[in-house]
Amino acid sequence: MNYPKLTAALAASLLAATPGLAGDVDPRQAEARSLVKRFVGTVKPLLTSTIQEQGPVAAIEVCAERAPALADQLSEETGWSVGRVSLKPRNTERAQPDAWEREQLERFAARAADGEPGPMLNHGEVVDGRYRYMQAQPVGGVCLVCHGESIEPAVAEAIRHYYPDDRATGYQLGEIRGAITLTAPPESTGP
Ligand code: HEC
Repeated sequence: MNYPKLTAALAASLLAATPGLAGDVDPRQAEARSLVKRFVGTVKPLLTSTIQEQGPVAAIEVCAERAPALADQLSEETGWSVGRVSLKPRNTERAQPDAWEREQLERFAARAADGEPGPMLNHGEVVDGRYRYMQAQPVGGVCLVCHGESIEPAVAEAIRHYYPDDRATGYQLGEIRGAITLTAPPESTGP
């Protein structure tokens, strides 16, 4: 059964009863979300079309070169720092989470295990005076080609060649592969 009106009323009263919750969204959250959208909106279609047109080995380059290059480009353009992290990194140099990132990744994984959908798994807060935001990246069908349990031998070999310490395989659909992590530029004005 569905009681949308009741649910909305309940949500409104809960928000009203919880000071700070309703109006507490950091203005930089919207900016972080639009950066995430640009990143995912570029990388995912490129990955899918490259796999379709040139095969998965060629597509490794998309995740290995294009994704980090786009993160760098977005960082340069906006002053935000943009990267990717994981609890089981493939790129052991670039994707190592710091303490705060690790904590969020562990929470995302627990929430995903409880059935919360991937796109809901994000979190932003001010940490040591800087606004930080993370958006989880759930494993979808296309990701299994390179992060799943049974990987084509040629793909597995190419991955091993570039990432001898790879830990980023064995994932199931819906698990959290990692997250996009953003840090806002230091503030020159305002609170
Ligand atoms: C064609 C192979 C391939 C596919 C498909 C693929 N990845 Fe990757 N993925 C890689 C490679 C290679 C890296 C290492 C990138 C680097 O060197 O920074 C990587 C790295 C990552 C990282 C950064 C953290 C880390 O472990 O280094 C995340 C997050 C990630 N992939 C998520 C995904 C998601 C989500 C999908 C599906 C939408 C996906 N990948 C599909 C090959 C792939």
